[in-house]
Amino acid sequence: MHCRVLVGRDAELGVLSAALEQTSTNGALYVLTGESGVGKSRIARELAALASAGGYTVVSGRAVQASSPVPLRPFIEALIAVARTTDMKDLPAVAEYRHALASIVPDWGEPGDSAAELSPLILGEAVLRLLSNLGGKGTVLVLEDLQFADPESVAIVEYLADNLAGERVLCVATLRDTEPSLAQNVVKAVHARRAATVISVPRLAASDVKQMAAACLDQPSAPSQIMPRLLADCEGLPFAVEEILADAVSSGELVRADGGWRVNEDVSTGVPTSIAESVRRRLSELGPDVSDVVAAAAVLGRQFDWTLLPAMVHAAESDVLNALQQACEAQLIEPHAPRQALFRFRHSLTRDAIMADLLPPLLAERSAQAARAIESAHPGLPGAWCALAAELREAAGDRTRAAELLLEAGRRALRRGALTSAAASLDRAMHMLAPVTPQPVQLLADIDDTLASVYTLTGDCDQLVSTADRLLAELNALSADNARKAIIHLRVARSLSECDRADMAAERVAAARLLAASTPDSSLCGWADAVAARCAIDSCDPDRALELARNALASAEATMSAATAGSAWTGGSAWTAGSAWTGGSAETAGSAWTGGSAETACGAEAACADEVACAADAACEALEVIGRRERIRDTAAANAAFERAFQVSTCNGLPVRRIRAMHELGTIEMLEKVGSDRLEEARHLAMESGALSTAAVLDLQLANAWSLGRDTERALAAARRSQTAAHRLQLRRVEASALASQACVLAVMGDSDYSESLAAQAEVVAPDDPSVLITTWGEARVSSAIVSNDLARALTLSRMAVSNGRNEPLTAPSMAWGYWALLETIAYSDGTAAVDEAIAAGAEVACWNRGLLAYAQAVQAGRTGDVARAENLAEAGRQYYLGCATWWNHILHRLVSTAALRDGWGEPVAWLREAAADLDDAGFALVASACRGILRKAGERVPRQRPAGASMPPQLRKLGITSRELDVFLLIGQGCANTEIASRLLISPKTVESHVTSIITKAGLSCRRELVAFAARRLAPA
Ligand SMILES: Nc1ncnc2c1ncn2[C@@H]1O[C@H](COP(=O)(O)OP(=O)(O)OP(=O)(O)O)[C@@H](O)[C@H]1O
Ligand SMILES: [Mg+2]
Repeated sequence: MHCRVLVGRDAELGVLSAALEQTSTNGALYVLTGESGVGKSRIARELAALASAGGYTVVSGRAVQASSPVPLRPFIEALIAVARTTDMKDLPAVAEYRHALASIVPDWGEPGDSAAELSPLILGEAVLRLLSNLGGKGTVLVLEDLQFADPESVAIVEYLADNLAGERVLCVATLRDTEPSLAQNVVKAVHARRAATVISVPRLAASDVKQMAAACLDQPSAPSQIMPRLLADCEGLPFAVEEILADAVSSGELVRADGGWRVNEDVSTGVPTSIAESVRRRLSELGPDVSDVVAAAAVLGRQFDWTLLPAMVHAAESDVLNALQQACEAQLIEPHAPRQALFRFRHSLTRDAIMADLLPPLLAERSAQAARAIESAHPGLPGAWCALAAELREAAGDRTRAAELLLEAGRRALRRGALTSAAASLDRAMHMLAPVTPQPVQLLADIDDTLASVYTLTGDCDQLVSTADRLLAELNALSADNARKAIIHLRVARSLSECDRADMAAERVAAARLLAASTPDSSLCGWADAVAARCAIDSCDPDRALELARNALASAEATMSAATAGSAWTGGSAWTAGSAWTGGSAETAGSAWTGGSAETACGAEAACADEVACAADAACEALEVIGRRERIRDTAAANAAFERAFQVSTCNGLPVRRIRAMHELGTIEMLEKVGSDRLEEARHLAMESGALSTAAVLDLQLANAWSLGRDTERALAAARRSQTAAHRLQLRRVEASALASQACVLAVMGDSDYSESLAAQAEVVAPDDPSVLITTWGEARVSSAIVSNDLARALTLSRMAVSNGRNEPLTAPSMAWGYWALLETIAYSDGTAAVDEAIAAGAEVACWNRGLLAYAQAVQAGRTGDVARAENLAEAGRQYYLGCATWWNHILHRLVSTAALRDGWGEPVAWLREAAADLDDAGFALVASACRGILRKAGERVPRQRPAGASMPPQLRKLGITSRELDVFLLIGQGCANTEIASRLLISPKTVESHVTSIITKAGLSCRRELVAFAARRLAPA
């Protein structure tokens, strides 16, 4: 009695078809809501058929009712279908999300994958990237029965809602709105912010019911005698229309005659009080054997694998198939693609009706049979079998076994990074065991152990503390060894310290030390020192941190070298005890469902499978503390610490630690010499292992490093990449900083309007964030003012900016500090105080600030008449900026040259001539003319302004030759000696020499002779 045509849904289908037409350029989320049986899935199915016929790719997945839903189930189903036809290698645009996708479809994983960051944001983006890159005109994703979806899937749906615009993906979901659900709340919220369209599917009007009845019976109209009852009983519900007609057929009230249906007046179907009544009647008409098979199937769920049934009902396969055949004909069940062995109840209401009739003892017995059949057919209970078996064991009254299976489901969810689902399964497991006597303490401890891992990763300290305390009590009852308990205290301490609860953390470390003292395991003390060191850093006691870290390192190194020396470790200690903290890697960690950045995910990487792995982890922890401490006073020592951490993490397979170590090394290289090699390496490692939020941070740092170089396009591209990724991952500060970084580059390049709009945008993304404000005001806007030659404004802006950054350690590397100190100094206000304050704020951590401060101090020294010191400092300032684009030193020379001329130090005339020539060529016209102005005022000869567009041969431009170098190059080509060039160009021979060296390097030559030949060749007439 299926209705082959769609009735009365023109409006709904019209809206969806219009959305489909947009899909090749613009995606959206549409949610069909309504009561069960009203026809939501049917509309979705019609749309899917239209889409397929129209050349779109269609994928679908459904959530399934379960007390502990399998995390990500709808997406697993949808993407596994994609994986059957799609090879990741054919989708380069999705490469960076391969790790995330592999957590959904294991086939996409590769050996050695680890450390991927997982969060609904990353998974949502991964799904979006994948679907929008499939072939066809676009992709339609159908998600069925969201009311049953797990929290992680719901979070992905929310992400999709917010990010589908502009993508080639139309997502159509169905949601029953007659029962409360997480999905319903989320759909309400996204609907309210206009990120989704909700289509509420109403019951059918009477005329549609008539049309539907006729279509079901495949004739122009249904027999009139049956219509009043049908209209009254179906209440406009399409599912009820089909059921009532099926009921009438099975009772013989409707009979086929003369090619049509007529009503047999002798039979009265009676008034079915409900759909349940109608199902019940049809089932009883099939006889007890068929009923038995159907009831067994119902116990397995709405969709079921028939091959489990013979064992459950003790019948031959052929009999079971025969029974299923009859149930299909009675419209109770139907075969269910995609797998052949699958059937499903025609409707969830059908199954509900059958389940409602099972008496509790019978239900328990059948559930036990079902669980046994599943456990023997699917050893290890892969995929969704585990959760189903748990549910059946629960229904069978076997609470202990149910709890064991829920524990397993929780562990699996944890490995997937599905922390909310993991916590839900484990809580349920605990709950399951509450009435069990005697209490299965070992099982309780295992559950709490896993729960503690979950709470460590979610950063939920309160839950962690109570879980850990319960676990410790359980371990006491089990007489577990002290080492294991000590480790628990240390893990809790680490989390507490991260949550700013230093006192509680210290108590835990003390408790751990006490326990460790009574064990033979000496490496535990090292681990305790490492944790204590981290706590000391967190509570701002760096000296104590350093001391503890050194102790920890010594002990960890001793353990590692003992192991490599071959001294067999005899085990039996806490490191291998129990399942201890089996949690996923740290990247799956803090970043995960809590939405924090990877930065929160540090530590706890090693699963502590063995003592060496743990020692390596402790060593890395200690080295990080040492490196961070040393960084502010001894860069070489900091470098050495991070180098060692990189080495240890590489040798011991600790990918997250490894990325962190390289990241630290890269940061040092950037701060020390504006270098980017190691940052690039760290970015490569982060991308390789799917650590996407770390990669976004690295792109930002690369942008900052490159922004001082010549290749400003590269800097802008990196900043844009960071901005896009950070936006998707909701890393607000990174996103804002990436915008601010672009604003800085554009300001220097003279595009002040665009720079201003990006700075303003940054301030909207992260309002009142001091580290953003100091950049937008103190770097971007100050640079704009400097290159437009408005120094008074530059100083005012600088002062404002610094007032934002005071007392903010995060702002130390900002160039705003150096700019401010220099601008105060040349403005003749209290420069000394500014320099001192900048130094106290830690500005010298970055070489660009060291350069600016050196120039400022040169001005101060000159003012006091200390010419030699002034010259040394100015030269030091120049040196700091040698690795940057040449215009930086020119601009800074322009800023200090008035003071230098007045106080008689340095080579202001040469500087200004150089700057004027080069800056003109590089597009800094206003600064160049300021340079000429100062020269003129000082009564010096002023070089003529180069005519606009004076041609630089493209090959030389490619080499990065500046216009001043071109002047030198041309004269060299004419055979001039350095002294002659100097006098012709009004610069000193020393400066000519440095130009010559620079050209030789840029052109990849080895000496002046080669340069002369090269220049002669280049300049020879063609
Ligand atoms: N407009 C319609 N025209 C013809 N048949 C329909 C119509 N709407 C629904 N049906 C039929 O009614 C039955 C129930 O519809 P459907 O499964 O789509 O309900 P649903 O709203 O998805 O319910 P649930 O929330 O329980 O999944 C299906 O067999 C479907 O084909
Ligand atoms: Mg449905």
